[in-house]
Amino acid sequence: MEAISVIGFAIALFIFFIFKLLITPSKPKKNQLPEPWRIPIIGHMHHLIGTIPHRGVTELARKYGPLMHLQLGEVSTIVVSSPRWAKEILTTHDITFADRPETLTGEIVGYHNTDIVFAPYGEYWRQLRKICTLELLNTKKVKSFQTLRNEECWSTVNEIKALGSGKPIDLSKCISKLIARIISRATFGKGIKEERVFTETVREAIELTGGFDDIADIFPSKKFLHHLSGKRAKLTKIQKKLDKVIDNIISNHSGSRSSSSRECLLDVLLRHKDEAELPLTSDNVKAVIFDMFAAGTDTSSVVIEWAISELIRCPRVMKELQAKLREAVKGKERIEEEDIQDLINYEVTPPLPLLMPRECREPCEINGYNIANKTKLLVNVFGINRDPEYWKDPESFIPERFENSPINIMGSEYEYLPFGGGRRMCPGASMGLANVELPLANLLYYFDWKLPNGTSHDELDMTELFGAVAQRKTKLVLVPMFQDIMDGSGLGSNKNPATWELPSRIDNWLICCYYFDWKLPNDSKGEDLDMVEVFGASVQRKNELHMVLEPYRFSQN
Ligand code: HEM
Repeated sequence: MEAISVIGFAIALFIFFIFKLLITPSKPKKNQLPEPWRIPIIGHMHHLIGTIPHRGVTELARKYGPLMHLQLGEVSTIVVSSPRWAKEILTTHDITFADRPETLTGEIVGYHNTDIVFAPYGEYWRQLRKICTLELLNTKKVKSFQTLRNEECWSTVNEIKALGSGKPIDLSKCISKLIARIISRATFGKGIKEERVFTETVREAIELTGGFDDIADIFPSKKFLHHLSGKRAKLTKIQKKLDKVIDNIISNHSGSRSSSSRECLLDVLLRHKDEAELPLTSDNVKAVIFDMFAAGTDTSSVVIEWAISELIRCPRVMKELQAKLREAVKGKERIEEEDIQDLINYEVTPPLPLLMPRECREPCEINGYNIANKTKLLVNVFGINRDPEYWKDPESFIPERFENSPINIMGSEYEYLPFGGGRRMCPGASMGLANVELPLANLLYYFDWKLPNGTSHDELDMTELFGAVAQRKTKLVLVPMFQDIMDGSGLGSNKNPATWELPSRIDNWLICCYYFDWKLPNDSKGEDLDMVEVFGASVQRKNELHMVLEPYRFSQN
C-alpha cells in the first residue's frame, strides 16, 4: 500500500512537473524577444497546429507584439508584423538578413539552391538577378511585351466567349493558362507545348513549400527524419518531372535560337554556358527557368483570382470598376495598358503572406534584443496589412483606400509589401503588375460575372491553402455573362478587329448581317479590300478577312 502511494506520489510529482513545464509561460529572458509559452523539443509549433500559418502567426503577434520570437522545432525564428519593424529590418538590417534558410525545396527543386529564390546571398545570386532583370524584368522590357500580353488576353477572352454566355467555367484554370502563356512567350520567345504540365507541377512544388509544415523544415539538421514524412520523396518525384519538362523546352529551343538582336532570356542564359565571365552549368540554366515560371506564374494568377473573388463578394465595387473601365475604353478597338493604369487600385491580396523566409548572416541587435546568427526571419505581410494602427477597417475590401494615398504597391511606406522589400525584393514586380492589370481589365471589361447555381455573392468560399503562395482552396468557378448572339461561335459584344471563322450556316450569316455593322480596320475604304482568291476545289480568299465590328445594334435598342 505504502509502496503504491510512494509510486503514486512519484507519478503525481512527475505529472505536476510536466504540467508545470507545459503551462508555465516562458518569461522572456533579458535581451530576448517576447514569445509565447513553449514545449521542449517542438518549441512553439503547437501554437500553429491546425491554423493556416500566416493567420496563426498573426494571432500570436497580436498577443506578443510586432517583433516576437518563435522557436519552431530547432529553428529560432523572429516574426515581424508591423510596418515600423519591417522598415527597420528591410533597410537598416537588410544585408544582415539577405540570406535564405536552407529548405528541401531549394535543395531538390531549386537545383541545390542555384536558382535566384533559394540562392544564398552572394556574387552568384547577384549576377543571376542582374541577367534576369536586364533581359526580362526591367520596365522597358516589360513594356515591350505589351503586344504579346494583348494577344494572349484577347485569345482568352475569345476562348471564354466560345464556351457561351451563362455557362460556368473554371476561371482559375483560364487565368493560370493565360499567365503561363504570357510568361513562356516572354521567357522563351514563344509558347511551349509543355505549359500545362509545367504549371501543374510547379504548383505542386509550391504547395510543398510552406516553410514550417514539415519535419524537414523544423528539424533541418536531423536528416534521418526527413525521409519519414515523405516530403523528400514527393519533391524528388516533382523535380524529375520538372527536369524533364525543362530539358524538353531547352532542347526544342536550342534548335531554333533567336538572332542576337532578338534574344530572349533563355538565349542569353544558354549563351552564358559558353562564356568565361559567368559560366553557367546546364543545371544553373534550368534552375533559373524554373524560377521564372514558378515565381512568375502562380503569384500573378493568384492575385487575379483573389481580386476577382473580392469583387464578386463586393458587387458595388465590381460595378463601379466595370463602369470606369468601360468608360475609359469606350470607342477604342482594344484595351490598351495606358487606359487602365489609374483604374485598378491595389487592394491586392499578397500572394506570399509571409514573403520568402530569410536568414540572419551574422549576430545582430534589434531594438536592444540580441539576434543570433542563422536566425530565420518571417516578414508577416499578412499581419502588416491588417495592422489596425495603420489601416482603417483592415479586414474589409476597400480599394478606395488607395485613392490619393501615399501608400505605394512597391512598398515605399512598408504598410503594404506584396513584393517584399530590400535586396531580396521581387525583381519581377513590373512584369507581375503588368501581368495582373491587363488580364484583370479584360476579364472585367468583356464579362459580367456571377456565381453558379444561384449562389449568393457573399457565399463565395474564401479559404486559402497554405504553401509559399496562398492559393484559393477551391477553384474559382464563375459564370461569365455577355451578350452572346451566336451561342458558341466565339462572337460577342466586342468591337475589335479579329479574324473570325465566319459561320457557314446561312441563318448565322443573316444574323451576322442583321446585328452588326462591319467595317475594315484602320479606316480603310471598302474598295481597298483585297479580293485575291486561291485556287482549289473551292475558291477561297487568299488573305484572312479582318473586320471590325461596330457597336452592335442589340445594345442600342
Ligand atoms: C503579382 C506578381 C508577383 C508578386 C506579388 C511577387 C511577389 C514576390 C515576393 C513577395 C517575393 C519575396 C520577396 C522577399 O523575400 O522579400 C518574390 C521574390 C521573387 N520573385 Fe516575385 N512576385 C510576382 C511576380 C514575379 C514575376 C513575374 C517574376 C519573374 C518572372 C518574379 C520573380 C521573383 C524572383 C526571382 C524572386 C526571388 C528574389 C530573390 O530572392 O532575390 N516574381 N516575389
